Amino acid sequence: MLEPIRIGVLGLGTVGGGVANVLLRNAEEIARRAGRGIEVIQASVRDVHKDRSCDTSQMQLTEQPMQIVNNPDVDIVVELIGGTSRARELVLKAIQNGKHVVTANKALIALHGNEIFDAAQQNGVMVAFEAAVAGGIPIIKAIREGLTGNSIDWLCGIINGTTNFILTEMRDKGRDFADVLAEAQALGYAEADPTFDIEGIDAAHKLTILAAIAFGVPLNFDAVYTEGITKIEGKDVSYAEQFGYRIKHLGFARRSDHGVELRVHPTMVPEGRLLANVDGVMNAVLVHGDAVGPTLYYGAGAGADPTASAVVADLVDVVRSMTADPENRVPHLAFQADSIATQMPMLKIFEVETAYYLRLRAEDKAGVLADISAILGAANISIEAMTQKEPAEGETSVDLILITQAVQEIHLDDALRQIEALPEISNNVVKIRIESLN
Ligand code: NAP
Ligand code: HSE
Repeated sequence: MLEPIRIGVLGLGTVGGGVANVLLRNAEEIARRAGRGIEVIQASVRDVHKDRSCDTSQMQLTEQPMQIVNNPDVDIVVELIGGTSRARELVLKAIQNGKHVVTANKALIALHGNEIFDAAQQNGVMVAFEAAVAGGIPIIKAIREGLTGNSIDWLCGIINGTTNFILTEMRDKGRDFADVLAEAQALGYAEADPTFDIEGIDAAHKLTILAAIAFGVPLNFDAVYTEGITKIEGKDVSYAEQFGYRIKHLGFARRSDHGVELRVHPTMVPEGRLLANVDGVMNAVLVHGDAVGPTLYYGAGAGADPTASAVVADLVDVVRSMTADPENRVPHLAFQADSIATQMPMLKIFEVETAYYLRLRAEDKAGVLADISAILGAANISIEAMTQKEPAEGETSVDLILITQAVQEIHLDDALRQIEALPEISNNVVKIRIESLN
């Protein structure tokens, strides 16, 4: 067997520790698959005195990540620091030094991927990023290689483990949002800044990557409409259930003749759908190809070992491809770099059409429903179902729940502004998009 490949790991936190553990635990099988061993010879951390979740006795620890990037003995740099500024600098330097890179950093790829892949192409090195989307699920490989014969028209999925864990615990155990978020942080699921998870930014990074490899468009994070789960209340979760739906935080990418639609937001999904039953930290991505039809990919979306599974798969792929002619490797973004469709229009959220769940707070008196119906009717918005809750003891206003049929968002928002202006309506209307996932 050839000499082992020597890797340098930037960051030995949740994922870095997991990667070191998996490489050690499965060393023999990994070597049999890759054709040679893969050894961590150097790793960087912020604090070399901190306890680590992995055995560091065979690697040199440093607080200077640039030492690894400039180390001539390192063949592959694994970036597991997170963030976009230091990580970008280190990755670009590694590429410039002729090193292959593996990263789990979706923010880095979503925001700077076009620049990074361009640099990699010029230097003839690979940048692999399977762990950046959906944790341990090999979704990048599935779309980029397994579905390469298809024209992919849409995909959607639960692509953030932390938010799915929070929504599941709130629904099943009635737990408090902040309490579940703290647990997700302790379990290593959440980002260093957890607002990235709960405000949908992390999912938007991932959707940016999925859309690029599915449709052959440039990475365009700014084109994603992003909404998190912080406005979801326990009562919306239970009202949704009464109508036969579950609330999931979904990423949705669709390509049509008008352009590409990219959105991340809480979504009501019929309870019988597979995606509605993906719970806890699990992720699932549904991809529709013209030839294969719908395909579903399911697995752990975060955590040390599942993410390490994806990082190590990338390492083996890179090792296997190292001897291949750079022009004949699998393209970073699935499509050949000179055939990425840069002119494809990106749709705005107000152009998107879906059905909606609406929760209104209304005075409990005659005529209110007629006023609301008149506004919706004038906007040609059909009501699929409606229910009025009993007023609580001593209260004069009630929750009104409406389910609409599909309507373009611009028309719904216009009608909602008129409804919110009615004197009998207090608070802004709560609006959750509904997808039947047919
Ligand atoms: P983490 O637990 O916070 O670990 C980060 C590591 O990088 C730590 O070892 C830290 O050193 C080091 N570090 C942080 N900032 C640094 C800096 N500016 N310079 C040098 N070293 C620095 O993070 P993680 O959860 O492993 O996530 C790492 C990456 O994987 C992120 O891009 C994240 O989005 C991605 N990811 C995470 C998961 C997951 O489930 N956690 C899943 C998929 C992808 P110290 O240990 O000394 O503090
Ligand atoms: N914070 C991310 C999540 C980690 O919860 O999904 C995996 O990308």
